[in-house]
Amino acid sequence: MARVAIVGVGAIGGVLAGLLEAAGRHEITLCTRRPLEGLTVTTPEGVVWVKAKNLTDPARAEAVDWVFVATKAYDAQGAAEWFPSLCRKNAPVAILQNGVEHRERFAPYVKPELILPVIIDCPVERQQDGSVVQRGPARIQVEARRLGAEFAELLAGSSARVEQTDDFITAAWRKLCINSAGAISALTMKPAGVLRDEALGNIALGIVAECVAVGRAEGARLEESMGQQVLDGYRAQPADSINSMLADRLAGRPMEIDARNGVIVRKGEKYGINTPLNRMAVALLKVFEGSPCP
Ligand SMILES: NC(=O)c1ccc[n+]([C@@H]2O[C@H](COP(=O)([O-])OP(=O)(O)OC[C@H]3O[C@@H](n4cnc5c(N)ncnc54)[C@H](OP(=O)(O)O)[C@@H]3O)[C@@H](O)[C@H]2O)c1
Repeated sequence: MARVAIVGVGAIGGVLAGLLEAAGRHEITLCTRRPLEGLTVTTPEGVVWVKAKNLTDPARAEAVDWVFVATKAYDAQGAAEWFPSLCRKNAPVAILQNGVEHRERFAPYVKPELILPVIIDCPVERQQDGSVVQRGPARIQVEARRLGAEFAELLAGSSARVEQTDDFITAAWRKLCINSAGAISALTMKPAGVLRDEALGNIALGIVAECVAVGRAEGARLEESMGQQVLDGYRAQPADSINSMLADRLAGRPMEIDARNGVIVRKGEKYGINTPLNRMAVALLKVFEGSPCP
């Protein structure tokens, strides 16, 4: 049994809560900004009712054994307000966010040896009432080290497929390649089918090529065919699939612009690699962020 707190209970936080509940032996605390009226997760195997304590005030939190952070990347500072109480006894902090800067983002708040970056893939939607619909299995990748093994053990017995990898940097940049091209949906306000258009498909290839170049400079092993793999993946999705950046734009929420495309521009500058397509995507998305949808 472990005491596990989840900070940020949206789509991914909800999935994690369902997985911990299904594992069947943990004491779960859900740390949210607004009170939760219970949490249900509808999964392909059935509905999971999460039995958990819900807190909205960081000052009232007690020390736990593990903290899972599942806020958006831009909410890192707010998430960190929970750490002084939750991590009083040096609990490790698993960061389940997109991007490649999990460590950098949380370095001001958590000792480096206690941070576990996590990559998660899971088809999931958060409903208006706060419940979560998980449409397929969660695939999770962590570093093959002690904290990664402990994290995998926490989810043992659930449906999650947790892989421990010796090459986490490649896993993270591979996911970023996919996410970076998702900017086209957010820019055009159209779901994945928009990438079936030849001209937009070519732009997606260019965005990913920039990501590959910068990722390789960072040490990721990304093959030449990465762009085509990403494009084929989007084209194989149902045409009406909505990525989380588009969902955020449609809902008038902030978007993870910096974590998904800005990082390619910033790190590209460090290595002298030009990233004009990502630079343009960032500039345009920043204009649209927070504007009412036309
Ligand atoms: N959704 C996906 O399919 C998916 C897949 C893979 C990876 N990811 C990544 O996973 C991360 C989480 O994404 P998501 O889709 O789950 O986001 P989400 O549905 O927007 O959920 C984020 C939650 O964090 C909460 N939050 C923000 N600041 C907080 C704070 N200070 N204290 C407590 N709760 C706080 C938000 O509260 P409010 O409800 O009050 O806004 C929201 O409920 C992102 O980095 C995303 O890119 C998502």
